[in-house]
Amino acid sequence: MSATVPGVGQITIRKCDSMEELQACVALQKEVWNFDDVDLVPLRMFVVSRKIGGQIIGAFDGGELVGFAFSIPGTRSGHSYLHSHMLAVRQTWRNYGLGRRLKLAQRDDALQRGFDLMEWTFDPLEIKNAHLNLARLGAIARRYSINHYGYSSSPLQGGLPTDRLVAEWWIKSKRVVELLEKEQPPRFQTEMRIEVPAQIYAWKASANDRPRAADVQKRNREQFLAAFRQGLVTLGYQRDEQENGAFLLGRWDESWSYATKDEE
Ligand SMILES: CC(C)(COP(=O)(O)OP(=O)(O)OC[C@H]1O[C@@H](n2cnc3c(N)ncnc32)[C@H](O)[C@@H]1OP(=O)(O)O)[C@@H](O)C(=O)NCCC(=O)NCCS
Repeated sequence: MSATVPGVGQITIRKCDSMEELQACVALQKEVWNFDDVDLVPLRMFVVSRKIGGQIIGAFDGGELVGFAFSIPGTRSGHSYLHSHMLAVRQTWRNYGLGRRLKLAQRDDALQRGFDLMEWTFDPLEIKNAHLNLARLGAIARRYSINHYGYSSSPLQGGLPTDRLVAEWWIKSKRVVELLEKEQPPRFQTEMRIEVPAQIYAWKASANDRPRAADVQKRNREQFLAAFRQGLVTLGYQRDEQENGAFLLGRWDESWSYATKDEE
């Protein structure tokens, strides 16, 4: 469970309304990812998203934006869904549950508007994000995208290809509803583990050790692609005491899906 600190309960999660609040999202995006300007999602895209049925939900400490979730509507094979493009929390506010609260607010809004699916991509080398997405929110992953965005200017990427897993969050599924109600990970038979060493963050950040991070990425990419070809689905995530992570793959016993003919 996330830590609690005085003040965290006073954080309000709500939709961003004014132009100033959207500008604050752009500024927080720059602060969190440290992208070159050319890689930033511009203010105009936030404005468009709000007008076309996307979501811009903020976490506010009084009037100050300390986190946001940004999504745009999408469609695949005639199935409408929300694609969540960014989730950001200011460094000083991390690990107090705000990321999860922002995702839950996205889900509430999506349910109210009749969606049953949210998707987003995440870097499978990011142990923290994998834990949040799979173990705490109940997303699943069964698609892998190699160098999804091309090379990125964000130091978080450490110069590696932007490989991404696609998280599918079937927000009405038994798996998600039970996880959110009971805070217990759903049971399944683990058929395969794909491991990420805790040192991955240090390796990505150091020019000397980056080849080790690249080796892990390459090995895991091959394992994911092979597993997904066999119909396995990433259903869980485990961390050990040394903060190593492991994806747990098995068979999903629910049939939430959409036709796949125009998938990437
Ligand atoms: C990803 C991000 C939004 C999460 O926000 P947050 O407010 O810290 O998230 P939460 O506090 O709700 O949840 C974090 C979870 O990760 C866990 N965690 C923290 N550090 C971890 C680590 N090194 N390894 C594994 N898990 C870790 C926390 O314990 C918590 O889990 P718990 O609820 O079971 O205790 C935030 O870290 C961030 O802005 N990161 C940079 C941008 C990014 O990567 N965005 C997501 C991809 S678009």
